[in-house]
Amino acid sequence: MTSFPTEAEIDRAAAILRSGGLVAFPTETVYGLGANALSAEAVAKIYKAKGRPATSPLIVHVASVDMARTIAARWPDSASVLAKHFWPGPLTLVLPKLPIVPDSVTSGLDTVGIRVPSHPVALRLLERAGVPIAAPSANRFTKLSPTEARHVREGLGAEVDCILDGGPTQIGIESTVISLANDPPRLLRPGMITLAEIESLIGPVAKVKGDISGAHVSPGLHPKHYSPQTKLIVTTDPPAGRGIYLWWNKEHPTARALRMPADPSSYARGLYTTLHRLDEEKLEFIAVEPVPESDAWEAIRDRLKRASS
Ligand code: TXA
Ligand code: MG
Repeated sequence: MTSFPTEAEIDRAAAILRSGGLVAFPTETVYGLGANALSAEAVAKIYKAKGRPATSPLIVHVASVDMARTIAARWPDSASVLAKHFWPGPLTLVLPKLPIVPDSVTSGLDTVGIRVPSHPVALRLLERAGVPIAAPSANRFTKLSPTEARHVREGLGAEVDCILDGGPTQIGIESTVISLANDPPRLLRPGMITLAEIESLIGPVAKVKGDISGAHVSPGLHPKHYSPQTKLIVTTDPPAGRGIYLWWNKEHPTARALRMPADPSSYARGLYTTLHRLDEEKLEFIAVEPVPESDAWEAIRDRLKRASS
């Protein structure tokens, strides 16, 4: 069992954020690398620590809809509906931004990605900090997102002023990102809140497809994202050699195998954690059985595709 940070530790982290420092903290999806979203200087430290190109906009975390509305220039009905239904939770809404949000947070875009995370430590930190917190996943650019505090320590330990340990994350992959700045709204990154769930509340949503090089509409769509160090292949026929086969449905007679859960929530929760652990073995490959084509598995299909590209 992980013991959560104490109130005093969260207060200290909140003070670090207010004074312009970097704090890694747990969310229900993955760990975030946070800085005061209203300070261009603080935000610059995030890009530096991650080695992230300035063309990748950051998600701004807030404690409430009220705080969200202090940075959004418009709050359409669809935002109210989705926030009411899914916040706090793994859904990021992209909306036109107000000028108090520095351009560096949004890579010069006139929109900002906003979400209220549901992890109790994240919520407490946001309340205590009293400012919106810009936070990408707390990994170096193109690497796997961290699902445990240990992953942050190993990847970015020296670069951050404080790491709050809230145990393993519950959702396990990054939030769904949807833009409400366009009509119709657009799905920019699939997540465990599915397109079908969103469409049932606000009507048709367009999907961004294919290559979006150049000005990144949503760099989460950058093909080389979320990769383990080990070569990952999606197949039911793993090659010979020092590797492992992750299956959920179709076993393989000879390969060293690891059984993955057959339901998407459990699969997502374990995916990055498993890949982080297998990376330490320095295998020749990680073969992964394809997952179902259904809506519920879309985000997992997306991450596997990127991890194998
Ligand atoms: O679950 C998550 O979303 C995690 C936790 C820490 O909240 N954060 C996360 O951040 O995954 P990051 O920076 O790794 O991914 C941010 C995603 C990218 O796909 C980015 O393009 C999109 O959000 N995004 C942010 N602001 C945007 C904007 N203004 N327009 C379009 N896409 C935006
Ligand atoms: Mg990321």
